[in-house]
Amino acid sequence: MCGIVAYIGPKEAYPILIKGLHRLEYRGYDSAGVALLNGNLRLYKAQGKVSELENLVSDKDISGNIGIAHTRWATHGEPNDINAHPHFSPSKKLAIIHNGIIENYSTLKSELINRGYVFDSNTDTEVLIHLIEDIQINENVNLVEAVQIALNQVIGAYAIVVISQDYPDMLIAAKKGSPLVIGIGEGEFLVASDATPIIDYTKNVVYLDDEEIAILNRNCELKIKTIKNKDKTPYVHKLEMQLNTLEKGGFEHFMLKEIYEQPRSIKDSMRGRLNAQKGIVSLGGIIDYEMKLINAKRIIIIACGTSWHAGLVGEYLFEDLTRIPVEVEYASEFRYRNPVIYEDDVVIAISQSGETADTLAAIELAKSKGATIIGICNVVGSSIARATHAGSYTHAGPEIGVASTKAFTAQVTILTLMALSIGSKKGTISTSKFYQLINEIENIPEKVEKTLKLSEKIKAIAYEFKDARNFLYLGRGYNFPVALEGALKLKEISYIHAEGYPAAEMKHGPIALIDNEMPVVVVATNKGTYEKVLSNIEEVRARKGKIIAIVTEGDVEVKKLADYVIEIPETQEMLVPILATIPLQLLSYYIAVMRGCNVDMPRNLAKSVTVE
Ligand code: M6R
Repeated sequence: MCGIVAYIGPKEAYPILIKGLHRLEYRGYDSAGVALLNGNLRLYKAQGKVSELENLVSDKDISGNIGIAHTRWATHGEPNDINAHPHFSPSKKLAIIHNGIIENYSTLKSELINRGYVFDSNTDTEVLIHLIEDIQINENVNLVEAVQIALNQVIGAYAIVVISQDYPDMLIAAKKGSPLVIGIGEGEFLVASDATPIIDYTKNVVYLDDEEIAILNRNCELKIKTIKNKDKTPYVHKLEMQLNTLEKGGFEHFMLKEIYEQPRSIKDSMRGRLNAQKGIVSLGGIIDYEMKLINAKRIIIIACGTSWHAGLVGEYLFEDLTRIPVEVEYASEFRYRNPVIYEDDVVIAISQSGETADTLAAIELAKSKGATIIGICNVVGSSIARATHAGSYTHAGPEIGVASTKAFTAQVTILTLMALSIGSKKGTISTSKFYQLINEIENIPEKVEKTLKLSEKIKAIAYEFKDARNFLYLGRGYNFPVALEGALKLKEISYIHAEGYPAAEMKHGPIALIDNEMPVVVVATNKGTYEKVLSNIEEVRARKGKIIAIVTEGDVEVKKLADYVIEIPETQEMLVPILATIPLQLLSYYIAVMRGCNVDMPRNLAKSVTVE
């Protein structure tokens, strides 16, 4: 949610900031702005994408080797030029960019209005910069102290960078709840919401912790303090991200590139963790906590969106392979409903970004009750990765498209390896089943590759249904989460209303929706419940619904009933979600493209949801 980038150093700031904003645009894209300092502080903002900002400044003074920039996903105040960041203080000597939500902003705003302040925007951010300047003047303190005092009054989440005309050699950054990374370059500093704008300039980064303030000076001094003024020692991490992973690499969209990366990303998520010949499955990141998992009376999986769907697959896997009861919870519900959590519970938190605010809050709640928290994150060094006791990175590489694709299959891969590792050590899985599964997992990347070859056929099906107004997705067992994920993917990028259901639940309500205009996608690869899924398909057919079936290669029976059939390679039932998801990703992608939608930046969405 919202992208922050700031620069101080010897170079011209504007090109660095704009390039950074383009990298961060996936986080929010309803407006963008920049503030540059070269004697006086100049501020330019525009509604719309970063390219609108570039048009706006084409005839403006963009000089200066210190600046801050922002791309927004609106929370307070509609997306327009005025609500865009940065925001000025009343004197226009200070400017701020902010990611997060100041929950007590209306109380603070009323107090400031009573003292005679006037506001231009509807944002919580403008309140914060007014407050900082008010403190600076009335309490006669320096800017760092004013920021500290102000942040002590704030309730909520923030990642901010403040620039001041009176301090041309200094930037101040601070965070709580929303991420902020500082890049330490050659005689320069960058600050950003994630490392993607920094990677071009340096691999040395410092991740700010909650309630920390960084003071970045032009003489290359980095000071970190808490908002209570306690000195902290910066810990420098080395980035492992590769620059080419942030480009489209010849694909029309990041989403398509990421779909096609899956044979590689699944392999990467298994690398060093699986040796089928030797019969070894071992996840180094959780080794010290394996006994906790083996002895757990219960596993609670917390996540949001697509990661929650991966969690549902995890439920089936863990219950099948480890016989440990599993509950899968929406993090946003879990955190507010006084859940029963025991010290011997193991909580698995799944998140691509590692920054999802609800998942983070749910982790903190479970931690406070003494549970062990295991993370499955994609972004290295992210807040969730740091908040958990142990975990496994998915190693899928940066996922830029807002619709999650390769992160999902990597999450399911990690969950499969985890369940197999725990099940084999616990003795809840037979040796023959264990070997069958680990040998087959090794074949999955190749089978994904083969599944991707179906794209032309899927494109043709997409063409038939691009004008549909509704879609129903059905699946049973391991294919139920696949149906949910297929429906989510379609609705978020094509804006077609889509529902995912366990196939047998259809007759309890959704069947009323079926007529000759309703496309029904049925994931029908099941072995155990094949006959039952056939009956569900018959029920749809009897009501003239259009059936698009995902089946196993060589299927005979479903083919007789379905209007369109997509055949995926045969695999173990537990591994089907990885393969069956691929055609659904492609179907959504092609439908969205044919409808003229912006698949990488769908309306109203943002890649990482760092607000409630
Ligand atoms: O970064 P996370 O995995 O925690 O994000 C969770 C959801 O916000 C995310 O999966 C969202 O549903 C995606 N847009 C799905 O494509």
